[in-house]
Amino acid sequence: MKVITFFNHAGGVGKSSSARDIGFTLGRRGFRVLLIDADPQANLTDWLGVRQLNAPGGTLREIELEDTLYPAVIAEDDADLALPAPVAVHGVHLIPGHLDVATIEPMLPGQLMGVLRLKEALQPLAGQYDFVLIDPPPSLGQLSALAVMAAQYVVVPAPASGKGLKGLSTVVQMLGRFRKANPGLKMAMILITQYNDTTNHSRESLAQLRAQFGHLAPISTPLTYRPALYPDSQLHGEPLPEFARRSPAAQEIETVTSQLLEALGVPARV
Ligand SMILES: Nc1ncnc2c1ncn2[C@@H]1O[C@H](COP(=O)(O)OP(=O)(O)OP(=O)(O)O)[C@@H](O)[C@H]1O
Ligand SMILES: [Mg+2]
Repeated sequence: MKVITFFNHAGGVGKSSSARDIGFTLGRRGFRVLLIDADPQANLTDWLGVRQLNAPGGTLREIELEDTLYPAVIAEDDADLALPAPVAVHGVHLIPGHLDVATIEPMLPGQLMGVLRLKEALQPLAGQYDFVLIDPPPSLGQLSALAVMAAQYVVVPAPASGKGLKGLSTVVQMLGRFRKANPGLKMAMILITQYNDTTNHSRESLAQLRAQFGHLAPISTPLTYRPALYPDSQLHGEPLPEFARRSPAAQEIETVTSQLLEALGVPARV
């Protein structure tokens, strides 16, 4: 089981979109995938179309805090710590997010070994999944720390822009710090997102990004900026490769998924 956190403290860089689409693609290729929405914004959950859960008697109910990662990390009695049963959706499993996951932030430091709790909660699932993909919020707070401490790998989504480049230096610095507590942590890939090949700015930023960071991790081929497609797929609650099956955008996601598998040394499945 490979645990991969989509990490970048910068907001809006494509963490949730790429966790959704790469997770889905891995699932469609026959890998057993668990997605964990560790962001109180719960975008990953919403964009997979999980807005309510099935309840007994064929009815629907609201998502509650007990359905999220919360019970795995916050408990009065440590013996009870465990992830809840996941939701099955689009060929993968999901631990959904919820606005009140934010309450973990102030409470975690008061928990014994709090920041390692997600890692511990995942251990019993090792035989059940090939991949666990974690989507943290855009911050360097406790939820992000929890997500990065649980992982063996990070994928770092970064837009091909000046802002993307600037943020990457801090990401690299932070990963250095996280490695002190999680020495095996590897940067599996820098995933280029929101690439606009009609602008010099995007092209130049990508060239600079390769020059500055290419020695630290494989750099993916770019995911193109497609302002019409992404919001539509979110509205429909479908991963982009399902929403727009034979589109060039879906092909790009196939390609970066294969690149990720190669970076991880996992034999590809088509
Ligand atoms: N390739 C793309 N083309 C167009 N829009 C995109 C693309 N990738 C992501 N977006 C849009 O950019 C916004 C930010 O993407 P996303 O939410 O995936 O980033 P994030 O890093 O998870 O953000 P946050 O930090 O808020 O969690 C979203 O509205 C998404 O639809
Ligand atoms: Mg997000």
